Amino acid sequence: MNNRYKIAIVIVTFLVSFSCRLQAQTGNSRGPAYDPVQSLKEAFRDDFLIGTALNMSQVEERDPVVSALISKQFSTFTPENNMKGALIQPGWDRYNFEQADEMVRFAAKYNMKINAHCLIWHSQLPSFMAGMQDADSVRHYFTDHITTVASRYDGKVYSWDVVNEALNEDGTMRKSIFERYLGDDYIVEAFRLAQKAAPHTQLYYNDYNIEHEKKREGVVALVKKIQAAGVRIDGVGIQGHWTAGHVPFQDIEKSILEFSALGVKVMFTELDLSVLPSPRNHNTADVGDKADYAETLNPYVKGLPDSVQNVLADSYAQLFRLFMKYRDKIGRVTFWGVDDGQSWLNGFPVRGRTNYPLLFDRQLKPKPAFYKVIETAM
Ligand code: G3I
Repeated sequence: MNNRYKIAIVIVTFLVSFSCRLQAQTGNSRGPAYDPVQSLKEAFRDDFLIGTALNMSQVEERDPVVSALISKQFSTFTPENNMKGALIQPGWDRYNFEQADEMVRFAAKYNMKINAHCLIWHSQLPSFMAGMQDADSVRHYFTDHITTVASRYDGKVYSWDVVNEALNEDGTMRKSIFERYLGDDYIVEAFRLAQKAAPHTQLYYNDYNIEHEKKREGVVALVKKIQAAGVRIDGVGIQGHWTAGHVPFQDIEKSILEFSALGVKVMFTELDLSVLPSPRNHNTADVGDKADYAETLNPYVKGLPDSVQNVLADSYAQLFRLFMKYRDKIGRVTFWGVDDGQSWLNGFPVRGRTNYPLLFDRQLKPKPAFYKVIETAM
């Protein structure tokens, strides 16, 4: 091989490896990498955990830029769907732990805590539960599911949302399949079973709109009932699906005080702030509550105007100032997703909209809200 040929090979090898590295950094189709300088989890390290919701495409690490962002920004995550009943027990007494195990592997690799979600919920139940009408079968599912799943992940996950969304807006018990066949005490029983199966795991009740007075009273009564039965409950999760410019700050503050006075930690578990018009007058995260598409309900397809971007940033900043005020009472603040493109709010309550509820945009760039949130930590 002559010298000129050798030099040519060296140059080509260098160019190929440089281009591969560049591709990895920009994540191919993702556009420019996010600004790696500031980190949410570092900024709030002494205050509370900072979380996100993840799904399989992120945990399988299809995009190195996404993995870098997640591990840099978040200290904890909640599987958005993969540990719910329908996915983890797809057939009667037949479990599939593959995806949940992947979540555990990802958490260990990046030293992140998992908030497992969720053991008992009326939604996303296995299809065999549909139309089930005998109490014995419901009880079998209830007992076996909690015991099997919670014990398998004890010591591997940090916490469980043991019961999710069990209350109506007026604070009364939702007429779910569990309430119907097992009675009002099923929530205490769920925590009792979880406590036995997962002695090393934090146990939480999680719900939306529980900052509102009536529902908040329902949660207080529920926590007291669990405690009076001598059963462990470690925290209450306020989901936090709100609207930019209309965040119920006073109710949130009251809830932090009232829940923490019960001796439990307060978590903000599914935080996102919609910027789109609501098709109804009320705010809900009830997945059954859908509405029809109309162009007027989807005004920002081409981008978010600065004026709205600023409202979003201000709402987030005010929220985090409140969280900081009560940082001794708050265990975790989890965003419901990493970036705007991933958010469930693009499909709820109206399908096919373009929403902007999170701190990272569709190119994974931090938005003005990101910087305003970081400032509240200083
Ligand atoms: O996995 C199936 C796929 O096989 C199928 O082809 C596709 C067709 O629609 O559906 C896929 O399942 C979807 C699933 O997300 C996974 O992507 C479901 O349709 C869809 O309904 C489901 O939505 C999730 C929703 O819970 C369901 O209840 C959202 O991603 C998730 O963000 C949302 O999360 C809930 C919390 O668990 C509880 N609090 C409210 C919050 C928002 O609704």
